[in-house]
Amino acid sequence: MKIDILTLFPFMCESVLSESIIGRAREAGCVDIDCHNIRDYSTDKHNHVDDAPYGGGTGMIMQAQPIYDAYMDLTDNGNKEYHLIYMTPQGKTLTQERVKELAKLDNIAILCGHYEGVDERVIEELKPEEISIGDYVLTGGELPALVLVDSVCRMLPGVLRNDEAFEKESHFDGLLEYPQYTRPPVWKGREVPEVLLSGHHENVAKWQTEQSLERTKKKRQDMYEKFVENDNKN
Ligand code: ADE
Repeated sequence: MKIDILTLFPFMCESVLSESIIGRAREAGCVDIDCHNIRDYSTDKHNHVDDAPYGGGTGMIMQAQPIYDAYMDLTDNGNKEYHLIYMTPQGKTLTQERVKELAKLDNIAILCGHYEGVDERVIEELKPEEISIGDYVLTGGELPALVLVDSVCRMLPGVLRNDEAFEKESHFDGLLEYPQYTRPPVWKGREVPEVLLSGHHENVAKWQTEQSLERTKKKRQDMYEKFVENDNKN
């Protein structure tokens, strides 16, 4: 998969994406990620990329021209197929389900807005999928883009050491993950559940499923109800 991030802060994105699991995945060739500076495409003599909003109001708006030209350069004037995503609190909230779908695509471009947003006309022209990471407002689309890239990349073959790791985790099958423990077996008087030390795989699996159901019911009633509804349909 190829991921291209269009941003005014490429170093901010690059620094995060060079570390840890995603950094290693890039080195191993599981995913190819490039961060492009929208400012490089400004035709303004001072390299400006933003201006005051028409109609007044506070803050600055990112101009259409540098964003459009950056995307045209990336896509070879629209000849290369890309799925364009615009990170915005006005978008649909990202879900694990959508992450799984996005992980099947070959080329994703992500537009990060900054300041008070981007000129509406470039959104109308490029028609990106609009994605939000939650009902709160950040100072820019970079952190949301990094959340999206991280969640998509970990679904790609070879990125997680154990490809099965994500099949049993929170949100993957509509349930929260069961509690996990590691050494020592007793810590501050708290013992690891006995069944996990038993080596009896069937009992362990049964316990984990029960815990997943119980946790989801307790912590995320909305997810639990959806799970029960889908379970009854199948
Ligand atoms: N840009 C600013 N806030 C955002 C959010 N919650 N999701 C996506 N992009 C954003």
